[in-house]
Amino acid sequence: MENIKLSNGVEMPQVGYGVYQVTPDECERCVSDALNVGYRMIDTAQAYANEEGVGNAVKKSGIARDEVFIVSKIWISNYGYEKAKASIDESLRKLQMEYIDLMLLHQPFCDRYGAYRALEEVYREGKLRAIGVSNFYPDHLIDLASNVDVKPMVNQVETHVFDQQVEGQKYMDELDCRIMSWGPLAEGRNGFFTNELLGEIGKKYGKSIPQVALRWLLQRGVIIIPKSTHKERMAENLNIFDFELTADDMARIQTLDTGKSLFFDHHDAEVTKMFMGWRGLV
Ligand SMILES: NC(=O)c1ccc[n+]([C@@H]2O[C@H](COP(=O)([O-])OP(=O)(O)OC[C@H]3O[C@@H](n4cnc5c(N)ncnc54)[C@H](OP(=O)(O)O)[C@@H]3O)[C@@H](O)[C@H]2O)c1
Repeated sequence: MENIKLSNGVEMPQVGYGVYQVTPDECERCVSDALNVGYRMIDTAQAYANEEGVGNAVKKSGIARDEVFIVSKIWISNYGYEKAKASIDESLRKLQMEYIDLMLLHQPFCDRYGAYRALEEVYREGKLRAIGVSNFYPDHLIDLASNVDVKPMVNQVETHVFDQQVEGQKYMDELDCRIMSWGPLAEGRNGFFTNELLGEIGKKYGKSIPQVALRWLLQRGVIIIPKSTHKERMAENLNIFDFELTADDMARIQTLDTGKSLFFDHHDAEVTKMFMGWRGLV
């Protein structure tokens, strides 16, 4: 497993397992399976309502706490300094852990500055080993990074073959902020699992379409967290360290970029309205 070093020197696995849309009931079994096939980084969030399942699985695994890297995210209903701070304690309680390895602000809406101050403070107290953001596009990221003491170390954004975040990654590099992909398999949208180019490249290496797409992200220095509730797919998505795409393969995959989200545009007013409706989620 390759590690990525964050700007504060903390190292995290470049490949992890994400639990968005994994029901609270199923989460413990899924995370146990993921740990069993070799994942050592788990991505959860307050809004996924499954932090307890993650915590139960880690606890029961017998794996030392410092060998598993846990990522969680503060939901917008918990933004503002006081609420964010209390919500970190609540996440720690649900995860049954003394510290979280990486805590992110989930969305660039509402009182994100107050929430980020809470992240900075708890980071200084040592209960968060690293802090960052999610869904912050260059404008939001530059604004935040220019007005805080501890710059975000990671930005988790939609990143896959159809929305490659080339410009976003350039700005993150300037800010010494690592790019972390959500939806690395595009959640199967846009015909992902039957894409001809990815299939053709995969044949050369005896690899599947998801493996080619995930390997392509790895070679771009992107942190990835593919999700599957199936153990054999979890293993498949992790089995990407025994081949290397050529510069030509990389360039051909670049041609799939549409430069557009397959989910939602965080600068669209209707999307902002939708998020305001989700303020009460957690
Ligand atoms: N920060 C954010 O706002 C945000 C937003 C979305 C996601 N995330 C994080 O990113 C993680 C990954 O993104 P995602 O869950 O949206 O989507 P994803 O990982 O791109 O795709 C997951 C989908 O692909 C299927 N799949 C996985 N591996 C497969 C394989 N080898 N062959 C065939 N199908 C496969 C899964 O089905 P099965 O489960 O049935 O196998 C599921 O339907 C999330 O779990 C979450 O941790 C964060």
